[in-house]
Amino acid sequence: MPDHPHPAADGAGAAAGAGAGGAGVAGLATSVWLTGQRSAPVQRRGRYLAASTQHPARMLPAIAAHAVAVYTRPGDLVADPMCGIGTTLIEAVHQGRDALGVELESR
Ligand SMILES: C[S@@+](CC[C@H](N)C(=O)[O-])C[C@H]1O[C@@H](n2cnc3c(N)ncnc32)[C@H](O)[C@@H]1O
Repeated sequence: MPDHPHPAADGAGAAAGAGAGGAGVAGLATSVWLTGQRSAPVQRRGRYLAASTQHPARMLPAIAAHAVAVYTRPGDLVADPMCGIGTTLIEAVHQGRDALGVELESR
């Protein structure tokens, strides 16, 4: 775990640009990641090969980008042991992190 807490855990409120956290409903901690404001093709445009859309289990780039932004810092290493088309890795590199992925399928 990083040495900086998740914004929802410390009651600090919204994470930069992509989500919100806080006391929530009936005092329960909540964390809402607003990652669907742009369509998947728009999020991928200019960053992903067209062939990558053939993968059956693609992650929405904004989800990966938000996780990278909240849980890591520039210069950190982001490792994805089941990286698929590499969404998490791509979003990590775009935010100044290093990235390492492993994928079972050769395609
Ligand atoms: C949901 S996708 C991963 C999405 C990815 N995390 C991303 O950021 O786009 C799951 C992937 O895990 C791979 N996988 C499943 N078992 C694996 C294993 N034992 N080692 C490596 N990759 C594996 C699958 O081939 C599939 O591409």
